[in-house]
Formats: sequence, structure tokens, C-alpha cells
Amino acid sequence: MITLPETPRLVRPTTAVRISYLTGEQADCLLRGTDTDWLGPASEDFDAFVAARDHDTTRWDVPSTIFWYVAGEHYLGTLVIRHRLTPELLIVGGHIGYHVVAPWRRQGHATRMLGAGLTEARARGVARVLLTCSPDNHPSRRVMEANGGRLDEQLGDELRFWID
Ligand SMILES: CC(C)(COP(=O)(O)OP(=O)(O)OC[C@H]1O[C@@H](n2cnc3c(N)ncnc32)[C@H](O)[C@@H]1OP(=O)(O)O)[C@@H](O)C(=O)NCCC(=O)NCCS
Repeated sequence: MITLPETPRLVRPTTAVRISYLTGEQADCLLRGTDTDWLGPASEDFDAFVAARDHDTTRWDVPSTIFWYVAGEHYLGTLVIRHRLTPELLIVGGHIGYHVVAPWRRQGHATRMLGAGLTEARARGVARVLLTCSPDNHPSRRVMEANGGRLDEQLGDELRFWID
């Protein structure tokens, strides 16, 4: 296990973690068997990739903020805050989405990252936070429950957790 040079924190996307972002996300995609094509443009012009993400913008039809969880030069994961819900987000997605890239999993980072994300969500006026995950995603469920998430009724295929 690599010893981190400092305590990880949520920061706006930054070019300072270019190498660890690209290698971490690539390792993650390969492990999950998901598409890596999007990493090509990111690798070719990381400045532009960051510039498209380092400020609030409309995604999922609502104002959204992207944070990266970073310690020094190390990128550990991403957390997205959606400032409002839509009928679709009420069923899948909720206010906050997150992932920790594979090399950094199972070290408590997601649990602490969501804790920091809740503070950022409240600062943006989201008092009651909805999170969703698939019923078989036990690690994510643990992350939500460790941060006070309480299970609500299941709509569609996703479990829904509210944090007051
Ligand atoms: C879900 C995810 C964010 C968890 O990240 P993480 O940094 O490994 O989480 P933590 O280390 O904080 O662990 C949280 C809990 O899950 C458990 N856990 C984590 N990975 C696990 C695994 N593969 N198998 C079993 N338990 C696991 C931990 O032991 C911990 O349990 P505890 O609270 O009882 O001690 C990460 O696996 C991930 O990015 N997955 C893919 C994307 C995703 O599912 N995002 C969430 C969508 S809703």
C-alpha cells in the first residue's frame, strides 16, 4: 500500500494529477471491463479535459459540481454533486455519485470522500441528500450507511438512501 503524502481532500479537477488520473481511471476501466475510448482525448489534451470540468455546469439537466479526491499528486476518485433532482435522478443517480479507482479501494476512502461530499452538498443548499445504488453493490451501500444513509422504498431497480 502506498503511503499518501497528505490527507486526501475534495478539489476541483486539476491538471496537477494528470498521470495518476489517467493511470487510475485506465486501471479502473480495465478491471471493470468498461470502455477506455474516452481516455484518449483526455490523454491528448488534459488541459481541455480539466477545463470542461473545473467549474459548475449543467449535466443530467441540472447544475452539477465535479470534485476529485486528491492527496498530493495522487488522484483517488471522483465525486459529483447534482444540485437538484429530476424525475429521473429521483429513481437513479440521486444528488451524489462517486467512485474510487481500483488501486485505492478498500481503504476507507469512499466513506470519507462521501462525508466530505455531504459538506459540499450542504454548502450548495442540498439539505436532504438522495443517493442510489444497485441492490448488489454492497460496498456502496456500506459507504452510504456509514454516512447516515437510511433506506427508503425501492423505485425501479435501485436502492434509495436519504441522508438528512
Ligand atoms: C463503491 C466504492 C466507491 C467503494 O469504495 P471504497 O473506497 O473501496 O470504499 P470503502 O473503503 O470506504 O469501504 C466501504 C465499505 O465497503 C466494504 N467493501 C469495499 N469494497 C468491498 C468489496 N469488494 N467486497 C466487500 N466489501 C467491500 C468495506 O470493507 C467497507 O465496509 P465497512 O464499512 O463494513 O468497513 C468503490 O468500490 C467503487 O468505486 N465502485 C465502482 C463505482 C460504484 O459502485 N460507485 C457507487 C455507485 S452508487
